[in-house]
Amino acid sequence: MTRVFSGVKPTGHLTLGNYLGAMRRWTEVDQHRSDAVFCIVDLHALTVDHDPARVRRLSRQGATLLLASGLDPELCTVFLQSHVDEHTRLSYLLECVATDGEMRRMIQYKEKAVRERERGGSVRLSLLTYPVLMAADILAYGADEVPVGDDQAQHVELARDLAVRFNQRYGHTFVVPKVTSPRVAARVMNLQDPTSKMGKSDDSGPGIVYLLDEPDVVRKKVMRAVTDSGQDVVYDREQRPGVTNLLDVLAACTDGNPESLAGVYRSYGALKKDTAEAVVEVLRPVQERHRELCADPAYVEGVLRDGAEKARAMARPTVDTAYRAIGLLPPVPEPALSPGR
Ligand code: TYM
Repeated sequence: MTRVFSGVKPTGHLTLGNYLGAMRRWTEVDQHRSDAVFCIVDLHALTVDHDPARVRRLSRQGATLLLASGLDPELCTVFLQSHVDEHTRLSYLLECVATDGEMRRMIQYKEKAVRERERGGSVRLSLLTYPVLMAADILAYGADEVPVGDDQAQHVELARDLAVRFNQRYGHTFVVPKVTSPRVAARVMNLQDPTSKMGKSDDSGPGIVYLLDEPDVVRKKVMRAVTDSGQDVVYDREQRPGVTNLLDVLAACTDGNPESLAGVYRSYGALKKDTAEAVVEVLRPVQERHRELCADPAYVEGVLRDGAEKARAMARPTVDTAYRAIGLLPPVPEPALSPGR
């Protein structure tokens, strides 16, 4: 059976971009047709300046939202990354296979490092090595497929490269994973700046639809979305990024085709109104289930506990194999106690 692995990092409240780019496929497709493993990748939240209490809150909220969005622990495995040591165990081995140049070429590193420096902060070493930990997340589980939005494609490419290199040097150990992307909305853009991604860690609230935004807040954000000069509704990412983003969101929410939808609308106002309502309808069941789950934190904790146990059992054999393959001796077993001692 195909193994699928993906994750989301608790660096901010989850957004419509996370949902349409990744989470919706996990719930609607991946968990039904594969052996699927989903993770709140909390260690990745420590790569930039962070508040420990906030990371704890967002990790809990993220896990609750994964379940609220429809992940069913009977069908898939859901857990917190830091509860399974195999991720960091493997990450170090992969650091011994990756190169410094490869890390410095990662687009997200370059962008985030600039942002950290502009804020007057220093750049954590873990921000540079983060894609190696991400590769470990994926390779530890022998994932065949990694369903992510566009922005993570380069990181999955690196995981592929490291898997191939490790296998060539030390013998076949890892499955070489491939990225899978959604048909539309692989990169949902910020409603106030449609040339940049809608990112949960960004500060620009009005341009970001959060999964837990009230319906009226969603409507307001979508109705105030920056559109382009011109009046006609055209699907053109370069020339009309604002309108194109709305068409993508509407298409993703209604299972439509953004280019055909462009022909249906004569004004930006009508497009915005329908997009806002479509988003509200997509978020409604997630928010309702989230409210129910918040009333039952013991259930969420139980899912995470069982999930971590399952995840450990899945990852351990592969990580142990990698330790042996790269040249590390197995731990010496305890001598058997003689009877009578
Ligand atoms: P993160 O937490 O930034 O995002 C989680 C998922 O949501 C997708 N996504 C988007 N898709 C479309 N439009 C957007 N505006 C948008 N914003 C986010 C992301 O592509 C991602 O699929 N490094 C990863 C987390 C990670 C991971 C992994 C993913 C760590 N280890 C192993 C897969 C496998 C990240 O920062 O995602």
